[in-house]
Amino acid sequence: MVILTACDSDNPGPGIPNVPVSEQISVNSLQYPMLRLDGGYAYIQAGYRGIIIIRQTANSYYAFERACPYDPDASCGVVSVDQSNLFLTHSCCGSQFNFQGNVTAGPAVYGLLQYKTSLANNILYISN
Ligand code: FES
Repeated sequence: MVILTACDSDNPGPGIPNVPVSEQISVNSLQYPMLRLDGGYAYIQAGYRGIIIIRQTANSYYAFERACPYDPDASCGVVSVDQSNLFLTHSCCGSQFNFQGNVTAGPAVYGLLQYKTSLANNILYISN
């Protein structure tokens, strides 16, 4: 029997390469219509494999690395918001994370890598 799996790591850990992150976006930009609502999100091209920005409130945002903390180099995808809009998931083998980045279903054991955020004059700064 052949078992196909994308999760081939024997040592699930936070092995996400530390790439420099220094981004800024306008949270009012037409590019990010979802950021106008609490719980809304946007994807940007930054970090190791992309970053998810999630609006908690108008003054508070999370920024998470999209590389899976279980297998950051999994070729089958990156972490995305589920269609239900209730959690984040990695399509490869289904790890799930809540909107605070914590694991809610394995095989991942570590939460999403989080980047720092700060907001000034509607500009959100995202950095390591
Ligand atoms: S690599 Fe399997 S859940 Fe992410």
